[in-house]
Amino acid sequence: MQDLIANPGDLPRSKNPEELAKADPRQRAWIEVNPFAVEANCHSLRRYLCKGCDLMAVVKADGYGHGAVAVAKAALQGGAKSLGVATLLEGIELRQAGLTAPVLVLGNLTHAEDLRACLNWQLMPTLSSMREALLCQNLADGSGREFSVQLKIDTGMSRLGCELKEAPRLVDAIAHLNQLDLKGVYSHLALADGALQGEAALITGQQQQAFETVLRSLPTQGNQLCKHLANSAGTLRDHGLHYDMVRVGLALYGHSPNKHLQGKVDLKPALSVKARVTLIRDVPAGTGVSYGHRFTTQRPTRLAIVGIGYADGVSRSLSGRIFAIADGQLLPQVGAITMDQLILDATDHPEIEVGSIVTLLGQDGDACITPQQWTDVSGSIPWEVLCSFKHRLPRIVI
Ligand SMILES: Cc1ncc(COP(=O)(O)O)c(C=O)c1O
Repeated sequence: MQDLIANPGDLPRSKNPEELAKADPRQRAWIEVNPFAVEANCHSLRRYLCKGCDLMAVVKADGYGHGAVAVAKAALQGGAKSLGVATLLEGIELRQAGLTAPVLVLGNLTHAEDLRACLNWQLMPTLSSMREALLCQNLADGSGREFSVQLKIDTGMSRLGCELKEAPRLVDAIAHLNQLDLKGVYSHLALADGALQGEAALITGQQQQAFETVLRSLPTQGNQLCKHLANSAGTLRDHGLHYDMVRVGLALYGHSPNKHLQGKVDLKPALSVKARVTLIRDVPAGTGVSYGHRFTTQRPTRLAIVGIGYADGVSRSLSGRIFAIADGQLLPQVGAITMDQLILDATDHPEIEVGSIVTLLGQDGDACITPQQWTDVSGSIPWEVLCSFKHRLPRIVI
């Protein structure tokens, strides 16, 4: 019995995931991650950046669901100079994997113990206030080591960061805390993925102006600081937003934040979602399909039942509005997506059989399904789509 139970966590790493999946016909669904795509995306992004501007690879949320360590290694290979995470544990994971590049923790760490761990693991915390700066100073004082930190300034996101008018005073005060090494000042854009005209342009321009006003009023020690503002959207939107570094997440993984920013940089999607057909059913016209019978067959229909559902990250809100690719052909998904399974109309594809592999996201032959296509119908965003594949699906790194 034991060896009939596939343990996704035990799936070996393979150079050829198709072969691996075929070799393990029990595997119902999985994710394939291509780190070479991440590396290539870094090269392309770096070519696009202003001269002297560095690339930070944002690998928080387990590398947007791709696997933080694999993605971080690929990004560094592609020329990224530093890594961005959201939490302390995400940073520690990178250090435990042996990565020595600078790591900035983008989230706020409020407890002394977390900040002490940052110091020990050589992770840079983001400071938003004098309170955190003093905590860091005390911890570093006790350890006899310098503590590298960065200061975040709120220019209009109303999330993390100090008040605009406080920034010059804080930079000065932090510079006088002898155990702190202030490495950078940064802010975050709220609407950079919006249209190139109108409100998004106005707000982004206002944030940029606010950032520059702060930069101009920094004390002299501010000259050496790394100044950064742009996420993927800011990076692709306007070279004027690049400064000394850009913090890129979504584009690293091969996706554009919005349609109007597509094509500015050649980006290759790094993740595919695949699943196997587990049953074929031939049903007559007039058959209700799945919960709620939201779909009724209009003709004698060949249904292919596929072993992936919303508990794997294929949102129920996509029901009846997406396709899967089999051998380069698009098959419509029909009826409600259920927790563990979804159903395809395979009537026009008689070659599909039990065990056939279908692609829910990614490229197969000339056909490609992107997170953007899903979000066009679900109202979600590509970031959320990518981050939702992490519970039950094994990840195969090509
Ligand atoms: C502070 C900060 N910088 C950069 C990023 C990267 O954003 P994106 O994935 O849009 O490139 C994020 C992501 O949310 C962020 O929170």
